Amino acid sequence: MKHSKVKDLLNSTKTNYEVTVKGWVRTFRNNQFIALNDGSTIHNLQCVVDFENTPEETLKRINTGTAVALTGNLVESQGAGQKYEIQVTQLEILGDCDAEKFPMQPKKHSLEFLRENAHLRVRTNAFGAIMRVRSVLAHAVHTYFQERGFVYVNTPIITGADAEGAGEMFQVTSMPLDSLPKTEDGQINYKEDFFGKHTNLTVSGQLEAETYAMALGQVYTFGPTFRAENSNTSRHLAEFWMIEPEVAFNDLTDNMDLAEDFIKFVIQYAVERCADDLKFLEGRLLDEEKQKPQAERSEMTLLEKLNFVLNNDFKRVSYTEAIAILRESTPNKKKKFQYLIEEWGADLQSEHERYLVEKHFKCPVILFDYPAKIKAFYMRLNDNTEPGKETVRAMDILFPGIGEIVGGSQREERYDVLIEKMKAIGIDEEELWWYLDTRRFGSAVHSGFGLGFERLVLFVTGMTNIRDVIPFPRTPQNAEF
Ligand code: 4AD
Ligand code: MG
Repeated sequence: MKHSKVKDLLNSTKTNYEVTVKGWVRTFRNNQFIALNDGSTIHNLQCVVDFENTPEETLKRINTGTAVALTGNLVESQGAGQKYEIQVTQLEILGDCDAEKFPMQPKKHSLEFLRENAHLRVRTNAFGAIMRVRSVLAHAVHTYFQERGFVYVNTPIITGADAEGAGEMFQVTSMPLDSLPKTEDGQINYKEDFFGKHTNLTVSGQLEAETYAMALGQVYTFGPTFRAENSNTSRHLAEFWMIEPEVAFNDLTDNMDLAEDFIKFVIQYAVERCADDLKFLEGRLLDEEKQKPQAERSEMTLLEKLNFVLNNDFKRVSYTEAIAILRESTPNKKKKFQYLIEEWGADLQSEHERYLVEKHFKCPVILFDYPAKIKAFYMRLNDNTEPGKETVRAMDILFPGIGEIVGGSQREERYDVLIEKMKAIGIDEEELWWYLDTRRFGSAVHSGFGLGFERLVLFVTGMTNIRDVIPFPRTPQNAEF
């Protein structure tokens, strides 16, 4: 007989019929009550074992973690706490679980311990919930763009272009590292490498996506990106997933509108479809907040935070305005910032971003028109800016508790300006010949942005460490599993 999912049974409209469920035992009480979880929902299904007619040896094998198949009548539960239960008539042990050795005991584990057991942590309520929410958010991303006629583009993971400037890159080679082929002048001879050239893992699909936007109009990527930044923070991964829409004929304002609408859509999508998981995660966050001193506790619950984002416009602020606010801020005057803001032109650190979002504006903020010097070469230079104070049509979206969640810009569509800029910072135009072609053949205004998928999942789940929202995190000194 085909087995049913716990989620469907808990939503059943009828009772008194025979069902089979398969899953893992979460707890086994009084030699009689199995709380069964099959991953379809955060809720367990109570399954009542007929212990008088079940051999002692079988009962002994029912432990936390044991995989079982249970058949019986679905009935209204007599006990408190659940609507339905199964009165088990047939019990099959599918896979034993050594109760003594199983690391996922039914008690509270630290997140550090769970990271060390990333292959088993998904068997806990919290990680089951996080990963289901992550999956729904991924679906939301595709739904949003597909419903609006965007074309999904798979940009390369191995790239020959290392000029994006988004971060340190991981090299890709098939050459033996202990005996690298050399050229006559002693340099590494990449001609002998697999691709006949120096290659890396991509830090972003943007440059390739731009070429596609110049034909398909509206495109988006959703794929893994890699950065070898040695930043061991709770916001950085060496391997993370990024969503990068790119739209022909969009200017910076259109780009901001798209990003805000998109973020609200995917959050709404998760709020509507992940009510049980989010309710659980909200409780988890409340417990965690209780450990903190009163002053550091969040004023809002998880769902209040999500609804706040859905119901309020993001505040749009220019870099110049932001610098003025930061310069006059208490932490700057009292020298509480690690990096004090003195001059226009300073790069913003996460402490500044979080001050603006969490203390000053108390809502998501879109910062735009950054100094050209601190942003990537491909961003559109603003017309009429003072020499030395040039700005580009960049925008970053800053979120409470997260900092930067989106980075994007209107792109420099003018061939001459782009070439000048590349020369000034020493980017090889030969290497990016194909990118420059987009500006030679039918160039047009266009814009796009990148949303860090894990940072979005962090925000929606209320987790605080990015290592806890991706199944197997890759960070400096850590590539286990
Ligand atoms: O701001 P970034 O570097 O922008 C780009 O890569 C552009 N090419 C995007 C575009 O315009 N198409 O990265 C975009 C976002 C950041 O805002 C952040 O959310 C996320 O990617 N991100 C990271 N997430 C996790 N770990 C890291 N190391 C990240 N670096 C960036
Ligand atoms: Mg950025």
